[in-house]
Amino acid sequence: MANGILKGKKGIIFGALDENSIAWKVAVQAAAEGAEFVLTNAPIALRMGAINKLAEETGAKIIPADATSNDDLEKLFTESVEILGGKVDFVLHSIGMSPNVRKKKHYTDLNYDFYHKTLDISALSFHRMLAAAKKLDAINEWGSVVGLSYIASQRTFPDYSDMAEAKSVLESIARSFGYHYGNAKKVRVNTISQSPTMTTAGKGIKGFNGFFNYANEMSPLGNAPAEDCANYVLSLFSDYTRFVTMQNLFHDGGFSNTGVSQVVMDKFED
Ligand SMILES: NC(=O)c1ccc[n+]([C@@H]2O[C@H](COP(=O)([O-])OP(=O)(O)OC[C@H]3O[C@@H](n4cnc5c(N)ncnc54)[C@H](O)[C@@H]3O)[C@@H](O)[C@H]2O)c1
Repeated sequence: MANGILKGKKGIIFGALDENSIAWKVAVQAAAEGAEFVLTNAPIALRMGAINKLAEETGAKIIPADATSNDDLEKLFTESVEILGGKVDFVLHSIGMSPNVRKKKHYTDLNYDFYHKTLDISALSFHRMLAAAKKLDAINEWGSVVGLSYIASQRTFPDYSDMAEAKSVLESIARSFGYHYGNAKKVRVNTISQSPTMTTAGKGIKGFNGFFNYANEMSPLGNAPAEDCANYVLSLFSDYTRFVTMQNLFHDGGFSNTGVSQVVMDKFED
């Protein structure tokens, strides 16, 4: 359904690990909409090699960057501007990882070194990225930066663990940095709060299938698929949403505003 809404736009896409990644779908669909971009991921993720196929398919260059390293991020923005022949118009932050979740630490017994890592990788990296871009003046006026969030930032879900705090911080950074970047350079910053999605990060959460099926039955439209999330991201990169900034936008089939659905209630009838 490409309409060329990103024709002439340049960007940077963080977080395409494999074909299931939300960032992967964004890259495929952004290319179809006419965008040119650089793909980036942590060096260790690039070693898996899957991203080479995506780069080939979308005509993108790959620049490694650990999103917790200011030096890597500054290098990434500098090189991207060179490669793309000008400042960028959009940046996708599609990054999340919790060592506590990975190592199955219970929320009431977290490892605090891991906790710092969760926050640094999944949230502070958003600030680092925005700070590097602003310092280097690497984003055009009316450019758009999008991060991906989850409703556990606002309401508790038993096994989302320290990622819940990371998402709260991420959403707060979108508001705070969005204020400053908007004032200084008319750059907008938003987060999209996405339904549970079958990806490497998603499936890493304990009991993810239960999570996924419950949300699906609670949402009037069902869980929002990754491809549709990608389309929503593209709309925020486009000129059709120029005055949208500092928002956390739900892309969840209606889950966030549903008290209970009939399907779920029926399961409790005698
Ligand atoms: N899958 C879901 O259910 C779901 C729901 C809502 C929001 N999200 C969010 O969507 C985003 C993308 O996740 P996904 O579901 O596509 O999973 P994914 O596992 O495909 O993507 C996560 C990415 O983060 C990258 N990453 C990890 N550490 C990094 C670092 N130090 N530097 C740079 N990159 C690093 C990984 O290499 C990977 O590409 C995340 O923010 C995630 O929390 C996912």
